[in-house]
Amino acid sequence: MIAIVTGASTGIGAAVAKQLVKAGHTVVGIARNTEKLAALARALGDGFLPHPCDVTDAQVFSAVLRQVADDLGRVDLLVNNAGSAKVLSIGETTPAEFRAMHELNVVAPANAIHTLWSTMCRHGDARIVNMSSLAQLDPFPGFFAYASAKSALHLLTVVANAEGEAHGVRAFTVAPGVVDTPLHRSLMPDGIKPVDGLSSTLLPNEVADVVVAIAQGRHDARAGRVLAMPAPAAVTALRRWIIEHPGGGVELVI
Ligand SMILES: NC(=O)c1ccc[n+]([C@@H]2O[C@H](COP(=O)([O-])OP(=O)(O)OC[C@H]3O[C@@H](n4cnc5c(N)ncnc54)[C@H](OP(=O)(O)O)[C@@H]3O)[C@@H](O)[C@H]2O)c1
Repeated sequence: MIAIVTGASTGIGAAVAKQLVKAGHTVVGIARNTEKLAALARALGDGFLPHPCDVTDAQVFSAVLRQVADDLGRVDLLVNNAGSAKVLSIGETTPAEFRAMHELNVVAPANAIHTLWSTMCRHGDARIVNMSSLAQLDPFPGFFAYASAKSALHLLTVVANAEGEAHGVRAFTVAPGVVDTPLHRSLMPDGIKPVDGLSSTLLPNEVADVVVAIAQGRHDARAGRVLAMPAPAAVTALRRWIIEHPGGGVELVI
């Protein structure tokens, strides 16, 4: 299987790339940090193909994706994982901040889907994973830009899944709670304490497990939906959210 993983240099994306390569798949890893991608390539061997690029540079990103599709002949899995979050009050969310958050978290994934669409539809049996966040369901103050971008990202999933059905292309939204990554540590340097002995964070590998399961078709019945992954301390709250929002298209996968 040929997979493209954006944001592969660290955090969740690096964990996804490692697990996919270990499972025998070829992974094209995209991120800006050339050294981190090269280090991963040394560790993972021939199965990992680094392609440094800024996904918010639409022209360059499209050109890289087209080249990869031409060189490798097909794309079976696209993981739109590159993303970032800032905690900004509405007063701090200038149009420039809002636009930048949406460029990275939703416009770049839309560009990737658009660019690879004909290749994925032509070959069929392809999957798209959009890495959202539980913030799309229950955002806290400060996520005006981030939560709206992730919510829009999920709608890319819904439309791509509907339009892809006739071509064997399925799309999924994965929405983790807090994951212990460099992004989380930059937002919350002191971490989050466990609640009643239950961890408030997930590990990148736990999210990667779900992406690999999607790649292997094990979540096909959930295509078009939000695969929600709360940390253990947040499972009860998420169960309540699902009961309070019937038809919300959210399924617990932990
Ligand atoms: N950590 C959490 O608590 C959490 C929870 C829910 C959802 N998520 C989502 O999970 C995804 C991964 O987050 P993470 O926690 O693993 O964050 P991370 O450790 O900061 O990793 C983010 C990845 O995105 C890449 N990236 C950022 N901007 C980019 C750009 N302009 N062009 C190309 N690559 C770019 C980074 O690589 P370079 O810097 O090398 O470009 C890095 O590989 C994000 O979409 C995030 O919103 C995270």
